[in-house]
Amino acid sequence: MTFPDVRPRRLRTTPAMRRMVAEHRLHPADLILPAFVREGVTGPVPVASMPGVVQHSRDSLRKAAVEAASAGVSGIMLFGVPEDAKKDAIGSPGTDPDGILQVALRDVRAEVGDALVVMSDLCLDEVTDHGHCGVLDDRGRVDNDATLERYAEMAVVQAEAGAHVLGPSGMMDGQIGHVRRALDAAGHQDVALLAYTAKYASAFYGPFREAVNSSLKGDRKAYQQDAPNAREALRELELDLAEGADMVMVKPGLPYLDILRAVADASPVPVAAYQISGEYAMVEAAAERGWLDRDRAIEETLTAFKRAGANLILTYWATEFARRLAP
Ligand code: PBG
Repeated sequence: MTFPDVRPRRLRTTPAMRRMVAEHRLHPADLILPAFVREGVTGPVPVASMPGVVQHSRDSLRKAAVEAASAGVSGIMLFGVPEDAKKDAIGSPGTDPDGILQVALRDVRAEVGDALVVMSDLCLDEVTDHGHCGVLDDRGRVDNDATLERYAEMAVVQAEAGAHVLGPSGMMDGQIGHVRRALDAAGHQDVALLAYTAKYASAFYGPFREAVNSSLKGDRKAYQQDAPNAREALRELELDLAEGADMVMVKPGLPYLDILRAVADASPVPVAAYQISGEYAMVEAAAERGWLDRDRAIEETLTAFKRAGANLILTYWATEFARRLAP
């Protein structure tokens, strides 16, 4: 028995050959830019643990939205950072029509109209003085059902401020159904829900805490998923779909590519991956020291999400990378 002389390397010989046989390609339309906007600042404030990322002022956010749209990025996901003094136990800035997130939604819609899909984080951690993603009961635990009532009010206020898509990210049970009902009852049938379906309690959210001036002491392990568990991601997927999720998301990204693949295989709706703050910080920090080739590392991580089945990627490099893809 003789073997044919099989040589897979033939398809790796030249850049043109490798380009031709590439199974996955990144496109600017795959990308969504997460952006922070801070109340009361006159210019952008750098986030030290995320070099290159800022807490925007209202003006600089408008500019960033225009830049993202011109680079071909699909969407922008907004996070509001209220003045500390305005945070309270129930997260009042989240339901104030003049809260910073709502103001920013109106600003961005006025600036870009429908040229970008304008999304907002639907969660309480940015607006509560204790920093949890919900309201607390008398023993200091996050009260699931009382939190749902707050999310419902926030959803309507965000929709009224012009969000096309809301991203409920608090991992409360029943949040998608509850928010959907509230939106529909208020006449916002067209506002879509991007469910944070599989969201794990992760150390890699660290730099985000700085980006939103978080007041959290402790952790979110009683509501976000536990790293050793894969099956419950599929259970969360089933529930979010049954409750009316229009798109689903897996988060963090790189440490959870197996979860992304499982969700992508099972989901009948578009699947997003969120490359979170700590993933961004790791690459930037190593590159700063000259330990990694920054541009190649960015491309490789984004490619990994496509290969694992993501249709959409939230990344702080969205605008930069979209520009790099431009012909
Ligand atoms: C919750 C929320 C978080 C992130 C997005 N939405 C923080 C958390 O769950 O602790 C993290 C994003 C990132 O780390 O880049 N509002």
